[in-house]
Amino acid sequence: MKNILITGGAGFIGSNFVKRMLEKHPEYKIINVDALTYAGNLENLKDIDHNKNYTFIKADIRDREKIREIFNTYDIDSVVNFAAESHVDRSIEEPEVFLTTNIIGTQTLLDAAKNHWKINPNDKYCRDYKAGVKFLQVSTDEVYGALGETGMFVETMPLMPNSPYSASKASADMIVRAYNETFGLPVNITRCSNNYGAYQFPEKLIPLMINNCLNEKELPVYGDGMQIRDWLHVKDHCSAIDTVLHKGEDGEVYNIGGNNEKANIEIVKLIIDTVREKISSVIARSESDVAISDMSLQGAKRHSNLQPDTSNSEPQTVSKPQTTNHEPNLINYQLIKYVKDRPGHDKRYAIDNTKITTELGWEPKYTFEQGIKETIQWYLDNTEWIDNIVSGDYIKYYEKMYSNRG
Ligand code: NAD
Ligand code: TYD
Repeated sequence: MKNILITGGAGFIGSNFVKRMLEKHPEYKIINVDALTYAGNLENLKDIDHNKNYTFIKADIRDREKIREIFNTYDIDSVVNFAAESHVDRSIEEPEVFLTTNIIGTQTLLDAAKNHWKINPNDKYCRDYKAGVKFLQVSTDEVYGALGETGMFVETMPLMPNSPYSASKASADMIVRAYNETFGLPVNITRCSNNYGAYQFPEKLIPLMINNCLNEKELPVYGDGMQIRDWLHVKDHCSAIDTVLHKGEDGEVYNIGGNNEKANIEIVKLIIDTVREKISSVIARSESDVAISDMSLQGAKRHSNLQPDTSNSEPQTVSKPQTTNHEPNLINYQLIKYVKDRPGHDKRYAIDNTKITTELGWEPKYTFEQGIKETIQWYLDNTEWIDNIVSGDYIKYYEKMYSNRG
């Protein structure tokens, strides 16, 4: 493996994966192809964009000619396909682009890979490929549909997607599977549960709630807030994909999850409590810094006989340490607003990760308690990143999705 095409690498998970691969595998060349839709953000990659092993190409995965050219130019030998329309609520409003990007885009990549990798280019039905090539499709647990109060998703379950988003991802899984069965293309499919972490677009539950808390805005909880999602830190998802890319058996599907089921309302309350605590402690720290500065100023005055005479100079000022504009008491459960439910809202997701843990030896590293605290801290430390996003088309998006929701 040498030249890895990562599609959708300017998005949330893709950008985390690009960085991981450059760090963990300095011998690989990473070619990131992304159309830079509303969800693609090159800011996510600014720490690594000068890395000599990294190339960014703005292109659409549905553009057959361009994709073929990229395979030839960079002699691609592995594909990790993250590029997708990824938000369920948008898929309910405008399904079509989900079908073209998530299905046709995937099939375009499969064709390019098949043609570039087959040993005999003149044999249409050639099933022999160059050694070490792999097409990894990044899928989702949502393709299995929804669970009742018990049970977990296992890889052998039939696919029963409920939203246009999950139906498009399930369709992509089917076409990837078909390329393996029909043409013998070496593929893997990974199906992961909900991710959280740095650089997630604030249309998704966790960053949206953090951002609204910071702006003391209502927190829109769909329905009764009792839907359950199985949360995994994005870095654990990336390590799992890396594992499957290197160790996955051709043609196999691997579920990825960390056994961490939470009801939405629990997550929202945890975010409120954590943001309030963190802001209170910043304020307490900055007040104690001011007190210390004041004390040292007074101390300096007390010892003025030891100081140079400054009586004729400008009055001495001590700059107040940077503090926050937030009022922690306003970040409380009263911000929660139960709003009209999402149509076809899946009740519960839960991943059985036995296959990847036992067969490939992968395991998650983050506990949710540690991961969510670090994630919230990241959003507090990177308000500029989020402000740049929410000052643009996001305002229109937010009004469209939430203004008539009751
Ligand atoms: P995202 O929306 O943050 O990023 C998607 C990226 O794909 C963006 O950079 C966007 O510009 C790019 N893109 C969209 N259409 C494109 C096109 N036609 N051509 C090229 N690039 C295009 O999504 P994400 O949350 O990072 O998810 C990445 C992948 O992981 C998706 O395939 C998604 O289905 C899957 N997944 C996500 C989660 C999750 O919790 N976010 C969980 C499981 C699986
Ligand atoms: P989301 O982050 O959109 O991921 P997915 O729908 O792919 O699971 O939503 C996670 C859960 O949070 C889902 O049950 C819907 C719910 N939700 C809200 O209650 N309010 C919101 O504003 C959003 C965006 C999601």
